[in-house]
Amino acid sequence: LNNGLGTTPQMGWNSWNFFACDINEKVIKETEASFCEMNKFQNVAACFIRNSIAKISFVRGSIVSDENTNVALNVLTADALVTTGLVKLGYDYVNIDDCWSEMARDSKGQLVADKKTFPSGIKALADYVHSKGLKLGIYSDAGAFTCQVRPGSIFHESDDAKLFASWGVDYLKYDNCFNLGIPPKERYPPMRDALNATGRSIFYSLCEWGVDDPALWAGTVGNSWRTTDDINDSWASMTTIADINDKWAAYAGPGGWNDPDMLEVGNGGMTYEEYRAHFSIWALMKAPLFIGCDVRNITSETLQILSNEEVIAVNQDSLGVQGRKIYAYGPDSSYQVWAGPLSGQRLAVVLWNRGSKASSITVKWDVLGLESSISVSVRDLWKKEYVSENSRASFSARVDAHSSEMYIFTPSATYSSS
Ligand code: GLA
Repeated sequence: LNNGLGTTPQMGWNSWNFFACDINEKVIKETEASFCEMNKFQNVAACFIRNSIAKISFVRGSIVSDENTNVALNVLTADALVTTGLVKLGYDYVNIDDCWSEMARDSKGQLVADKKTFPSGIKALADYVHSKGLKLGIYSDAGAFTCQVRPGSIFHESDDAKLFASWGVDYLKYDNCFNLGIPPKERYPPMRDALNATGRSIFYSLCEWGVDDPALWAGTVGNSWRTTDDINDSWASMTTIADINDKWAAYAGPGGWNDPDMLEVGNGGMTYEEYRAHFSIWALMKAPLFIGCDVRNITSETLQILSNEEVIAVNQDSLGVQGRKIYAYGPDSSYQVWAGPLSGQRLAVVLWNRGSKASSITVKWDVLGLESSISVSVRDLWKKEYVSENSRASFSARVDAHSSEMYIFTPSATYSSS
């Protein structure tokens, strides 16, 4: 979509993959539990009374932050994105997903934030997030209700877009539930026009689950579109989604990206190597990079994956060409080469072993479109070092089971004929 946004894939954090509908409630409960634990309250009644008081002050906006805003989870996450250094690496959207609103519109027909979990409202949250140098995203649905049955925005596009803009919202994720059987192609453009009419720059992210092949029509509708169903925190889901997203590679580019859904890195269902492969492939595929774990309690292992600047730079490369699966061989085609061009005549290459045994994986220059006489410098993006060249006209590396290695290839010179 030609609105000046999404010249590289969007990056940030979204509440859904870890917190689902439990926005803020979980944080309140944790605060309660840790208080009782900290104070070694044996007395359940005392704990209960203290927590009731805490809840009241939470609602009044004093428990969590000195900024007098009480939108706990997003406040804490925004803070955590800053202290972990993730913001500096480009993760600058803090996005609320489903369940932020009351179950019904107010008497004027406007959406309202859930008074219990967002007592200060969204504007206060946006102000806080902006004060930290971050941007705020919100969620609605191109249907009668959201997937968790909050009011949807169909036929309210103009009012809702104006409201979001007045709150200072920077990003809209627009879902597909309760869609009245109307095709996405008809339901998604009205919100594009409504957002555009507000005069505020709002990133428009279509979440139509790949229905009706959005890559074919969404380039003029949104800044990104989902190519698949929801991801879950498993190797099977992640690999399946990568393959589906790959089919639409030709349609991605600056201003409009294929979205294979948000990252599960750090949520516990995959191994370190599997998460590293997930992150590497998402980066190579120019996917939006939305952290989906609890950043307040992030482990150093997870942070190390999400903070790899060289991998992020592949994702954010100015050329904006989605890398693809270019070659697969071996048992069940589980030895795979994924690659794509980068600016400066370079190539990003992922060797991906989807099999259950470690193996050497080889990429030949010809599958990369390189002349066999070309000499290539190879940078390993996880070891963060240059690899001494191991043969001419091809490159091989040992890759563990359910693991991947990622490189940048820079063709440097041709070999002399001698
Ligand atoms: C759908 C979307 C998810 C999430 C949930 C919220 O399933 O695809 O990403 O937003 O709805 O209910």
